[in-house]
Amino acid sequence: MSPIATQRIHSIATIGADGIGPEVVNAGVQVLRQLAKLDGTFDLEFKDYDWSSELYKKTGQYIPDGGLEELRKHDAILFGAVGAPDVPDHISLWGLRLAICQPFQQFANVRPTKIFRGTESPLRKAEHGDLDWVIVRENSEGEYAGQGGRSHRGQPWEVATEVAIFTRHGVERLIRFAFETAQKRPRKFLTVVTKSNAQRNGMVLWDEVASEVAKDFPDVKWDKMLVDAMTCRMVLDPKSLDTIVATNLHADILSDLAAALAGSIGIAPTSNLDPTRKNPSMFEPIHGSAFDITGKGVANPVATFWTASEMLVWLGEEEAAKKLMESVEAVTERGVRTRDLGGKAGTQEVTDAVCAELEKAFKGSRK
Ligand code: NAI
Ligand code: MG
Repeated sequence: MSPIATQRIHSIATIGADGIGPEVVNAGVQVLRQLAKLDGTFDLEFKDYDWSSELYKKTGQYIPDGGLEELRKHDAILFGAVGAPDVPDHISLWGLRLAICQPFQQFANVRPTKIFRGTESPLRKAEHGDLDWVIVRENSEGEYAGQGGRSHRGQPWEVATEVAIFTRHGVERLIRFAFETAQKRPRKFLTVVTKSNAQRNGMVLWDEVASEVAKDFPDVKWDKMLVDAMTCRMVLDPKSLDTIVATNLHADILSDLAAALAGSIGIAPTSNLDPTRKNPSMFEPIHGSAFDITGKGVANPVATFWTASEMLVWLGEEEAAKKLMESVEAVTERGVRTRDLGGKAGTQEVTDAVCAELEKAFKGSRK
């Protein structure tokens, strides 16, 4: 028999950027190459972009002229993290990450969290299976719309405004996406996070739109939580939550809490999606560039592996994505874990263990 005639090929842009970003992206590429080779029905072509704070310091730009047009040609982007000790964080974030997310209208930021087998939650009563959430974060406007300014610079009466923007269009498309996400999960349950008691304009619009959109999803149960009370519910009653939708700022904070409650920020993934698929979507671990551990070979690559798996789902490679996650979890269960998860293994050891586990998984499925 001839080998498979038509192979699906996906073109992936990689941007490791700063700190541990390149270390974990390289680990992700190693695992993805192994997965594609073993699977054989699809292939991945990688193109690396050296956009980083180093490049910014040399040229004054994170993204060279014409860079976004280049990026647009790919099917997806695998991103590390941006941020360097000698560049202000608002310059690096707006210069690279947001400079991709915003023009590409990646308005839905999806952040799943769960307790992996073989890992421990800091919550005394939560075990594997007790905390299994997907946080959907608004990713194009809200508190991070970039509206505002500074006047009377340097004067004692200097003023700065940071204006949160909520458009009916922006809120509706995101809340609709969140209901769709909840609908695809077994529990079909969505919690809408708000702060409409104190923020009486944008957040009231947010609540109104949620009630309207909910009517189109009669099979999805939903409830509403004020963001401050939500932090208590996440800690005290994690089993009561499933899919969660929140604004750009609220979900930014809640999702770091979620990652910590699941065991470590080193395992949590993010997808920045353009659900219209007009632009490529971007996939990244939730964590930052972690200067304190850069270059030491100890960064946990699991967040990037889960991110890679989410990317494969988006590209239509669900089977391969599932195999990858099963292999990662088999490795954490066996105790091959980095320091943040209480283990002793380095980045490369975990990466090699996942590659070996994949080999076993494919041998098993060919029997
Ligand atoms: P961080 O996530 O880089 O680090 C927080 C703590 O978690 C550190 O102790 C770090 O060692 C640890 N950690 C993070 N990822 C880990 C991993 N994979 N394995 C093991 N330990 C890990 O957050 P921080 O320190 O607030 O920010 C550092 C820089 O990263 C800043 O410049 C910030 O602006 C940037 N940043 C960038 C993000 C992005 O590009 N998406 C997201 C968050 C922060
Ligand atoms: Mg954050």
